[in-house]
Amino acid sequence: MKVINVVGTRPNFMKIAPIIRQMRRSPATFKPILVHTGQHYDYEMSRVFFKDLELSEPDIYLEIGSGTHAEQTGKVMIEFEKVLIREKPDLVVVVGDVNSTLAAALSAVKLHIPVAHVEAGLRSRDREMPEEINRVLTDAISDYLFTPSPDAHENLRREGIPEEKIFFVGNVMVDTLLWSKEKARKSDILARLGLITKNDSRAADYTLLTLHRPSNVDNKKSLKRILDALWEIQKRIKIIFPIHPRTRRKLREFGYQSFLSNSGQWDSTIQSLNWQTNSVILTPPLAYLDFLKLEMKAKLIMTDSGGIQEEATILGVPCLTLRETTERPVTVTEGTNVVVGNDGNRIIKEALKILGGERKRGKRPQFWDGGAAERIVKILREQSK
Ligand code: UD1
Repeated sequence: MKVINVVGTRPNFMKIAPIIRQMRRSPATFKPILVHTGQHYDYEMSRVFFKDLELSEPDIYLEIGSGTHAEQTGKVMIEFEKVLIREKPDLVVVVGDVNSTLAAALSAVKLHIPVAHVEAGLRSRDREMPEEINRVLTDAISDYLFTPSPDAHENLRREGIPEEKIFFVGNVMVDTLLWSKEKARKSDILARLGLITKNDSRAADYTLLTLHRPSNVDNKKSLKRILDALWEIQKRIKIIFPIHPRTRRKLREFGYQSFLSNSGQWDSTIQSLNWQTNSVILTPPLAYLDFLKLEMKAKLIMTDSGGIQEEATILGVPCLTLRETTERPVTVTEGTNVVVGNDGNRIIKEALKILGGERKRGKRPQFWDGGAAERIVKILREQSK
């Protein structure tokens, strides 16, 4: 089976890595090819992950780059179609919910090439979220739908997807997390950020923060609400904030340069407050193992990412999701996640509650056990017979 595996953005790399690894174990059955659309292209958003995940260089790189949604989706479709015509694969595997996911799936089905969607069935029910559109459409046209949780399975059933196409296999992100945990322990990121010193090997307490959703960062009011909440939280605990390129651009665009400069000054045109020096540590986007280490040692994670909600659950670290909805409800019902939206007071209240010791314990959801990729590849092997 010649299988084209597609990645485009940062969260795709950790999902595809365990699948390719499993396929490589059966060279008589699978010939995996890795296509990178180039939706993410900066070293720290892309290449560095190949090293951490021991993923081989992409066989084909499409150099799509940034653009509007239509530009990105259209460019991937045009370039990926050429690859499909040339390579004639037996199957295309897409992961997650980014523009590259939908575009690659759409190009393939139009050429009657079967598509497998890994992480199928997740629904936030918020159609203003670009990823929700990508999820619904990719699922509607895929031939194999590999779901991470029973709710996803149920969503697909409700949308009329035939039962025989749906396979509950568990979570491939977790495969990568468990595979990487030992290596992540050895990361020296805590020392590099000054969180441990030579004299004291115990890490200082900190909250880990990520923000990149358009609904939070593209809107000045929403972003300010969150920054105001951070101001209160940093009085209690250090905040480590690796900044996504979109967020960096928006902070600059909205005139929050002083926040970015790490100078300890809160933009005076917005609010006359001084950040305590070093209470917020800004970093560029981090490599996978460094970030994982920071997650493991955090007192609290605050995020609007999807995958980080899952990682927090597996690591047993309390997580506040700064969004109105989550497409990953098991992280709330079974894990450590609390969805708080972007209301400043709610964020502060929930954060202080957790820092005061009132926290969810959570447990590991079913099949979040490191075996998801193995199940996927087993099913594909059986289906190919
Ligand atoms: C994309 C995904 C989102 C995912 C996120 C992970 C879609 C619709 N969104 O959002 O689901 O959670 O990736 O990071 O596919 N940029 C760079 N360097 C890069 C990549 C992007 O500077 O390597 C900048 C560009 O200016 C670009 C902006 O970041 O305009 C946003 O990138 P884009 O790929 O459009 O979406 P993300 O916000 O990263």
